[in-house]
Amino acid sequence: MTPKTSPPDVRILGIETSCDDTGAAVVENGTRILSNILISQGELHAQYGGVFPEMASRSHVETIEPAIRRAMEESHLSVEELDAVAVTRGPGLAGSLVVGVNAAKGLSLAAGLPILGIHHLESHIYSLWLSQEESPERFPALCLIVSGGHTDLYVMSGHGQYRRLGGTLDDAAGEAFDKVARLLGLPYPGGPAIEAAARSGNPEFVRFPRALLDDSWNFSFSGVKTAVLREVRRRQPNLAAGINPPEPGLPVENLAASFQAAVVDVLTKKTVRAAREFQAGEILVAGGVSANQALREALQRDAPCPVRMPPLELCTDNAAMVAAAGYFRFQSGQRDTLDLDVVPDWDLAED
Ligand code: KG4
Ligand code: ZN
Repeated sequence: MTPKTSPPDVRILGIETSCDDTGAAVVENGTRILSNILISQGELHAQYGGVFPEMASRSHVETIEPAIRRAMEESHLSVEELDAVAVTRGPGLAGSLVVGVNAAKGLSLAAGLPILGIHHLESHIYSLWLSQEESPERFPALCLIVSGGHTDLYVMSGHGQYRRLGGTLDDAAGEAFDKVARLLGLPYPGGPAIEAAARSGNPEFVRFPRALLDDSWNFSFSGVKTAVLREVRRRQPNLAAGINPPEPGLPVENLAASFQAAVVDVLTKKTVRAAREFQAGEILVAGGVSANQALREALQRDAPCPVRMPPLELCTDNAAMVAAAGYFRFQSGQRDTLDLDVVPDWDLAED
């Protein structure tokens, strides 16, 4: 009897520079993280209350090479042992994406490695394949991608197959968290700060509006953001909210909890309704806001099918998820060329 041979391991270097974090990671077979380096610029942008695009790209230029070097060192592999390099091609900030794509091209050329351009939202989805005992393959899956730049619902019918149901018409949910945090005098990024403040607040303190937009799968978060602004101004009429920090006495915890409750309510209701309507085998939630505990609990409580969320450290942007998505693209035969260009406004379902 001939012994069974398992297919050779596939090791992919992922590179992520779509926004303000420089990431490089090595992942084996799309699931096993061998290294995952993230050099965050959070502090740099905190003073502006958001990402400053030119500073982000300049900072990537300084950190991309050390990030890749450390990712290779920690993986204990040499570049010759890699099978491909996968890089975020879009959507994202053009000046930031270019830094990652150019680094990937350099490596591809120098080491003769295939290069693969990856969609940022697809890589968020594939964060759900990382470090899991069992892969999420109960298609069709209903995907909620909820981050600083996106709030989108997709039906995923198989690997690389997406149909977009809808998305935000104005602010992304994470963006609303960031803007409301600023109104309340909380630091950037606003999501974790609001979540922390909300823990000691009353979610029913103010009933902020919920835009359910029942006749579509779209979202809108600008109304709830404006409602928080109005509430802050009503309580502190002298305050040019959003510019000056609020005065002492503002019930920050209660307002944070009430805002979070409104956003979680909308995200949960629409996701659950879409999962029912499209008979999803599973709900996949990914992106920075999926780190939110209140959202996790509400979805787990109300969903008609299993819900998967990435480990907390893989919710926000990272390169391991790029390498994971790259693995599935590699296996399906995708190979890009050195002409690969960035696509700052790339639609996932278009691909
Ligand atoms: O996915 P991500 O790292 O970057 C984008 O692709 O946008 O998401 C960042 C966003 C920020 O808006 C941040 O405030 C939000 O995710 N976020 C959270 C939490 N952690 C990060 N929002 C709510 N609750 C959290 N715990
Ligand atoms: Zn992201």
